[in-house]
This record gives sequence, structure tokens and C-alpha cells, in this order.
Amino acid sequence: MSKLELLNISKDFGTVRVVHDFTLTVEEGEFVVLVGPSGCGKSTMLRIVAGLEDITSGELRIDGHLANEWTPVKRGVSMVFQSYALYPNMTVAKNMAFGLEQARLPRKEIRKRVAAVAETLKLEPLMNRRPSQLSGGQSQRVAIGRAIVRDPGVFLFDEPLSNLDAELRVHMRVELAALHQRLQKTMIYVTHDQVEAMTLADRIVVINAGRIEQIGTPLEIYNSPRNMFVARFVGSPRMNFFPGKLGSDARVQIPGGQIRLSGDVGEHMPREVIVGIRPEHLEVCSTDDADIVGEVTLSEQLGGESNVYVLIGGEPEPVIIRQPGQTTAKAGDAVGVRASAHLAHLFHKDTGACLAPSDSFAEPR
Ligand SMILES: Nc1ncnc2c1ncn2[C@@H]1O[C@H](COP(=O)(O)OP(=O)(O)OP(=O)(O)O)[C@@H](O)[C@H]1O
Ligand SMILES: [Mg+2]
Repeated sequence: MSKLELLNISKDFGTVRVVHDFTLTVEEGEFVVLVGPSGCGKSTMLRIVAGLEDITSGELRIDGHLANEWTPVKRGVSMVFQSYALYPNMTVAKNMAFGLEQARLPRKEIRKRVAAVAETLKLEPLMNRRPSQLSGGQSQRVAIGRAIVRDPGVFLFDEPLSNLDAELRVHMRVELAALHQRLQKTMIYVTHDQVEAMTLADRIVVINAGRIEQIGTPLEIYNSPRNMFVARFVGSPRMNFFPGKLGSDARVQIPGGQIRLSGDVGEHMPREVIVGIRPEHLEVCSTDDADIVGEVTLSEQLGGESNVYVLIGGEPEPVIIRQPGQTTAKAGDAVGVRASAHLAHLFHKDTGACLAPSDSFAEPR
């Protein structure tokens, strides 16, 4: 078991700083998910923890010990790569045993460990195949198996499911959650998949250009994003943003109409704000009892739910509304939009900082 402390870690490649002052504690047994746009430094952070990249400044501590200079082996960390990185000329069995042979474990012990992991991951029928004879999902299980046999204190996963088809991806996601529950090991997991992040994480770390924007449980991040970057990044389809003017008695003028916040806004609030409302907190209604009116530009039927795109008040981008079930709305329709105003977020129009998360307006319902 291992606790990881990353203290003010920065990383330069040549003259370019790609990780800035990264501070994060991962508790023993915790499942932490890193998310952020491409190039923000997620893989670099994993590689730093694994010992595959050196640290420009700052400290990495493993169970309280300064580990900056430790070899990858001494760290007790196993990494699973997006590409799987299996040895092509070795069988599955050999791929799994190889690291243990290098570490000079007794043969009997190696055989025992490989057999146990093969059983858990249902790899037994594949043990004599080579990587070229495996499907993507099977290769991925072998890569995870190879990490598990080493019995590391920390698992690092770099987008391990991104090459799988949708069904297998869901299956493996559930398997990974079960694996974590069974092993109770410290895990850091990188993904671009919202559902993986929300469902697997004890805590999510949102990264932007090498800096941490927010750390929190999945619901903290979803309910109370600290700024517009986090609000935009987490949630799919993404949060809608409107320019808003705060009036008296908690009314906010937005393009195409107004909404009335349910709580007190407070005197400290600037009058001009950005209002953020998630697609699932808006609904299409008749124009008569609408907060906002607009015109449908597109409706997407997903079967169980629908996305309706509505242009309001001369705004360049349509508002996205996520409705349960199927919709009759079609392009060209004039529609009303109603907002669950108690779930609106207010942001500073220049800095993007959150002025009031949705819960601060929430009244008991
Ligand atoms: N060896 C290297 N030399 C120079 N720059 C590098 C090197 N490795 C990564 N970088 C740069 O560091 C930044 C972070 O890269 P990193 O691979 O960590 O991003 P990422 O968040 O994992 O992105 P993705 O989601 O696309 O995998 C990028 O700008 C990348 O170009
Ligand atoms: Mg990466």
C-alpha cells in the first residue's frame, strides 16, 4: 500500500514548462482520475510518478519518503499504457512473467502469481498466444494482468480503455472498478471519458495547461465548479453560458429572456455576470410559460434522451437542452426554454471565477 505526495512539482522540457507547481496527495487505496485537454500534462505527471521522467523542481514522496531519485522498480509502481506496450515476441504467459523473472523471483512463486492473475482476469485460454493473436480488449487485459502480477503499491493507468469499442469499454470500466475494490490499491487514472471519470474516481483532478484547476469528488466538481474552465470541461454536453445582467430581486436578464434565481444574490455581486446552466437543467416548453424564447436549429434523438439546440436572443451559439425521452421539436420551431434557475451558476465575466455555485441559491425543495 502506498500514499503518494506530489509537492510543488514542476517539469520543464528544454525551456518549456509543461507542469507548474503541481501539488496533490493521493491517499493509500484512493482512486484519483486526472482529466484535462490534450497536451495539459496528464501523461507527463504519470511518467514522473513512475520514474520515467525526472522532476525539474518539487518533491515526490512515497509513504513519506522522498522518492525523486528512486528507480522505477524501487517505487513499487506499475503503469498501464494506452498502447498496452506488450512484448510482441513473447506469449501472454511470458509477458506477464517477464518482469518477475527480471526481479529474480523464484520460479514457483512466478508461476503461482501468474496463474492467480490469469484466473482473475480470465486470461487462461490465451496464455500461449502472442500479442498479434489478441483482440484489443484481450491485449488490454494482459497489460493490466502484467501490472497486477508485480503486486505494486500504486497503479498508473494512461487512457487504458481508449482503444476499445463502446461495449467493451463499458465492460472493462466495470471490471476496473471491481478490481480496485478487490485490490484496494492506490490508483491514478487518466481519461478523456466523462463517464469513466465520474464513475471510477474517488476524486477528480482537473488540469489546464499543466496547472491544477480543481480537485474534488466527482459530484463536487459537477455541482460546484470553481471556474468556467472546470464548468465547461466536466459534463456532457457541456454547460451553457449566457451573458447576464443582475437586476433587483434576483432576476437575471439574459439574451432572449430572464430567469429568476431562487436565492439571494448578495450586494457584493458584480451586476454583469456570466450565467452557466447545464443542458440537463433546461427544458423545452411552450413559448407562453417560458423564461426564454428561441428557435430550434437542430434536434438529436438519442433514443432514451434528446439534445435540442436552440438559438436565443441573437447569440451566435445555440443553447443545448438535454431532455429525457424523445422530442417532437424540429429545426425552425419557435420554442420556449425554462430553466431550473436554482441550478444556475454565476461566473465573473472577466476572470471566469465562480461567484456563486448553484447550491448557494438552492432552497429546500
Ligand atoms: N519528451 C518531450 N519533449 C518535449 N515536450 C514534451 C515531451 N513529452 C511531452 N511534451 C509536451 O508536454 C506537454 C504535455 O504532454 P502530455 O503528454 O503530458 O499531455 P497529455 O495531457 O497526456 O495529453 P493527451 O491527452 O494528448 O495524451 C505537451 O505540450 C507535450 O507536447
Ligand atoms: Mg497523454
